[in-house]
Amino acid sequence: MDRFQWGVATAAYQIEGAVTEDGRGPSTWDVFAHTPGRVRDGHTGDVACDHYHRWPEDVALMAGLGVDAYRFSVAWPRVQPSGSGAVNAAGLDFYDRLVDALLAAGIAPAATLYHWDLPQPLEDAGGWMNRDTAHRFAEYAAIVADRLADRVDAWMTLNEPVVVMAYGYGYGLYAPGHALLLDALPTAHHQLLAHGLGAAALRARGARRVGIANHYSPAWPASDDARAATATFDLMLNRLFTEPLLTGAYPDLTPLGGFPDGVVRDGDLPVIAAPLDFLGVNYYRPTRIGPAPADSPLPFDLVDMPDFPVTDLGWPIVPDAFGDLLRDLRATYGDALPPLVVTENGCSFPDAPDDGPRVAFLEAHIAAMRAAMADGVDVRGYFAWSLLDNFEWSEGYHPRFGLVHVDYATQQRTPKRSYAWYRDLIAAARA
Ligand code: BGC
Ligand code: BGC
Repeated sequence: MDRFQWGVATAAYQIEGAVTEDGRGPSTWDVFAHTPGRVRDGHTGDVACDHYHRWPEDVALMAGLGVDAYRFSVAWPRVQPSGSGAVNAAGLDFYDRLVDALLAAGIAPAATLYHWDLPQPLEDAGGWMNRDTAHRFAEYAAIVADRLADRVDAWMTLNEPVVVMAYGYGYGLYAPGHALLLDALPTAHHQLLAHGLGAAALRARGARRVGIANHYSPAWPASDDARAATATFDLMLNRLFTEPLLTGAYPDLTPLGGFPDGVVRDGDLPVIAAPLDFLGVNYYRPTRIGPAPADSPLPFDLVDMPDFPVTDLGWPIVPDAFGDLLRDLRATYGDALPPLVVTENGCSFPDAPDDGPRVAFLEAHIAAMRAAMADGVDVRGYFAWSLLDNFEWSEGYHPRFGLVHVDYATQQRTPKRSYAWYRDLIAAARA
């Protein structure tokens, strides 16, 4: 890749729908969303944006934006409905057609292999608490690469393993809905191992660029007595998923209880730490941390940030924290840091085609990124989250993150003001 890539991002379960079509198997998110009380108003990804049928229109919307690249995810349960063994040809065919259409439109395909839709049979066998899932992931990565590595420009093994650990297995707010608290820690190692084994499988099949998309949130102490709690939160959210990748060692995990014996085995860390072509950074907001209350099962407390403007999910809007995050990654890891790609950044605002607040959000965050680049941080791309309004996990269809509005009753797509703004920004960056 020779020039900075401007792009948009989506994920399979959030946009595709067609969950029982053409041999797709159930994922943890299908089961979770269909469990009463898990997702707001009982929304599910059954139809979502119907992208499975409307993808030509969506590719045309991307072409209209003039993006260089499109980050999408491959649904594991479409490709391997039971999570192991038999391959579903129709599932691979879908992504094959999508990739060809992107290339024909001059858009580089950037594929994430796992954006949270684990085949349910693997969850029934323990999911990410089971080390074997890492090996199943490598097998699946090889299957997808055999079909697409000749045309995909960039690969991301996993999306935000910290969110899977914390929300999926720790708090139980996301699929598969386990509330193991700190006992969820082995899911970190098993996902990182999956990344390493999957990356090796991709490379063995000629993958061009291989990375991972991590979630980052700068952690700020609410008060002087919150410094230890803040360090522990930062350890869990940011360092746990970065240090093994870049330095080949885990930080001291004592404040999180550490891994049980036998989880980390000889030879795992070199697999995890194989060089990356890029580190994907998903950034939405900083987090303010207070000391853990006396009876808290967790060693920190998340506190409100009423001193900043917020998105409609209540997330503080702090572009400077984004610039600082990029600079801090560079300062912390130095030459061990591969080039960065901003694999997600965006915001939810209410249903309005004239989405001035989104334009202001993106403008300020892109400016913060450019300032960090001017300070020497090597950033190679920026992907806005998201092309379309879509299924926002346990919040259902209420939050709207899209540059393009989706009317879920008719599936009509209507570009918002932010779409035209982003198109013009990309054109200006070219000029
Ligand atoms: C992040 C959000 C993320 C959520 C789980 C929060 O801590 O700020 O971006 O979506 O966790 O998805
Ligand atoms: C996830 C996306 C999600 C976005 C907004 C990220 O945590 O990767 O799937 O929609 O944040 O919450």
